[in-house]
Amino acid sequence: MIDKHMISENFEKLFQAAKDVRDNAHVPYSKFKVGAAFLTEDNSIIAGCNVENAAYPQSQCAEASAIGNLVAKGFTKIKEVVVIGSGDLLCSPCGGCRQRLREFAALDVNIHMCNVNGHIKTSTLEDLLPDSFGPENL
Ligand code: THU
Repeated sequence: MIDKHMISENFEKLFQAAKDVRDNAHVPYSKFKVGAAFLTEDNSIIAGCNVENAAYPQSQCAEASAIGNLVAKGFTKIKEVVVIGSGDLLCSPCGGCRQRLREFAALDVNIHMCNVNGHIKTSTLEDLLPDSFGPENL
């Protein structure tokens, strides 16, 4: 299902950034490459890919890598997200990454879930993580 009205002018740039960084994913175990790209408060684009490890639980999702990049570059806000996985299905952020995104993205931020051929579905963070716990709960 493609919700054209939810596709922003930044989508194409974010999609390309996520697709490019996805090529660098380190996935010798799952072979499932993922790229994530964020739009920041000043409209910069920050990206990251998944990085797996021979000790499997030490692997890192693409969204977590992108968040590390975001913070390292001095940003604190995510205004829009593109995630591109492998195969035909949409790449839905895992539960842990939904919570990671919650730290830096408002509940109405759009998360575009894609495959390498294009956009499949857009949901807000609130859709993906209802009744969530965030910084303002502390
Ligand atoms: N993966 C991500 O990078 N992001 C997600 O939101 C879902 C899963 C990665 C983790 C692992 O390297 C591979 O996809 C297969 O689960």
